[in-house]
Amino acid sequence: SNNAESVENRLTELCNLLRDTVDYYDWVGFYFKNGDKEELKLGPYAGEPTDHTIIPFGKGICGQVAVGNENFVVPDVAAQDNYIACSITVKAEIVVPLFKNGENIGQIDIDSNTPNPFTEEDERFLEFVNQEVSQIL
Ligand code: SME
Repeated sequence: SNNAESVENRLTELCNLLRDTVDYYDWVGFYFKNGDKEELKLGPYAGEPTDHTIIPFGKGICGQVAVGNENFVVPDVAAQDNYIACSITVKAEIVVPLFKNGENIGQIDIDSNTPNPFTEEDERFLEFVNQEVSQIL
């Protein structure tokens, strides 16, 4: 069934799998729109705990993807002015929106401690992952 606990467990396993499999994926997590609020809420993740469990729309890379509806690849986080640092070890980030029935309902967010590691292959792969995830939501 798609009960909330099952979905949470499966997404946590997915985050762990991605983080363990790709050497430059150091933090992998999902953010979802928080009900009717203009904010994202942290969902399942793998990696160090983050203080940023709530992110207002428009703030940081994640908040920009919540309103922009497009992939956001950041080769160098130090070059971004609208960026929320979760860890000083992070060098790069990719955020790919997650669509359900055409609606942007959340995103997968990956931090890397490696500079400029993300390619179009990561974008296509994570779009595929999100399409699969949307089927169990
Ligand atoms: N760096 C993100 C915040 C989330 S942490 O990476 C887990 C941002 O700028 O939105």
